Amino acid sequence: MASAASPTEITSIKAFAESNGSSPIPSTYHSLTEPRDDVADHLACSIPVIDFSHLTSHDPQIHASTVHQLANACAQWGFFLLTNHGISEKLMEEVMEKSHEFHNLPLEEKEEFADKGPLTAIRHGTSFHPQAEKLHYWRDYLKVITLPQFNFPHKPPGYKEVAFEYSRKIRGVARELLKGISESLGLDAESIIESTGFDSGLQIFAVNLYPPCPEPDLAVGLPPHSDHGLLTLLTQNGIGGLQVKHTGKWVNVNPLPNCLIVNTGDQLEAVSNGRYKSVMHRAVLNNRDTRISLVLVNGPDLDKEIGPALGLLEKEDPLFKTMKYRDYFEIQQMTRFAYKSGLDEIRLN
Ligand code: OGA
Ligand code: NI
Repeated sequence: MASAASPTEITSIKAFAESNGSSPIPSTYHSLTEPRDDVADHLACSIPVIDFSHLTSHDPQIHASTVHQLANACAQWGFFLLTNHGISEKLMEEVMEKSHEFHNLPLEEKEEFADKGPLTAIRHGTSFHPQAEKLHYWRDYLKVITLPQFNFPHKPPGYKEVAFEYSRKIRGVARELLKGISESLGLDAESIIESTGFDSGLQIFAVNLYPPCPEPDLAVGLPPHSDHGLLTLLTQNGIGGLQVKHTGKWVNVNPLPNCLIVNTGDQLEAVSNGRYKSVMHRAVLNNRDTRISLVLVNGPDLDKEIGPALGLLEKEDPLFKTMKYRDYFEIQQMTRFAYKSGLDEIRLN
């Protein structure tokens, strides 16, 4: 546990929190610039809910009205809860359980996965980039590139197998959502999938763990940010903490049982030529329960040039320049330190 004990060298906030107990937290976790401002709880029940089985319905009317709902959810919130997605509760529980087991492995057992940079296949770490940042975040993570090739830690036993199944099921759901979103923009259903090379695209499978924090109003789990991909699909272990920014206010996300939480990412904002804004979100803490979230970012092909859909540019000017997703990803990782959006780097005018 020695490596977790010094505030300047915390390699796992979980290990640190366990040894620190209810003592004050290190000042490097004090988030003075991000107070708990402006939480609008009356908006929590207005977060859109989309029924996935209606989107995939063969009844053209049901399908069309769901595409319409999807358009509103993406344009007004960039965020929605997805019910009846077809991924079994059992699979979701198994992945969650194994994710907890992974984070519970002794630090020595996870050393081989220590983060060696953004596009390495498997990386375990804490905060965001402890060596480079001034303020640290109260979370540990495992981030794995699960597409176009599947990678995963070989422990705990059985984790890789359930993670594979979950990764592929999530990808299928994301693909259907993108078809609906394409249609909602007046494009062919396959348009975004084809132009972004989605079927050979990137998927990052992140497993965040937020230990209970004795001073939950001082530290943050994750700072306000947007995700770099097209669509992020998230589930959590029943403990809240995710907040989404809507009309200038932070809104607590209270998921429905077994739903997936979906948010739009930077690449969707670019592809939709600004119609569907990449939504800002953050993770706050509590002092009682460990929170785990499974966050699957679904993006384009890393080697594909991404920009506004050509079908949209027949009637309007592009708001974003075209850039290879790999280059965008690198920029986005850098700008996160500066509390800027990577989108500022590709926005025209
Ligand atoms: C992320 C993220 C939120 C959460 O990992 O990009 O926004 O609730 N996570 O863990
Ligand atoms: Ni995010």
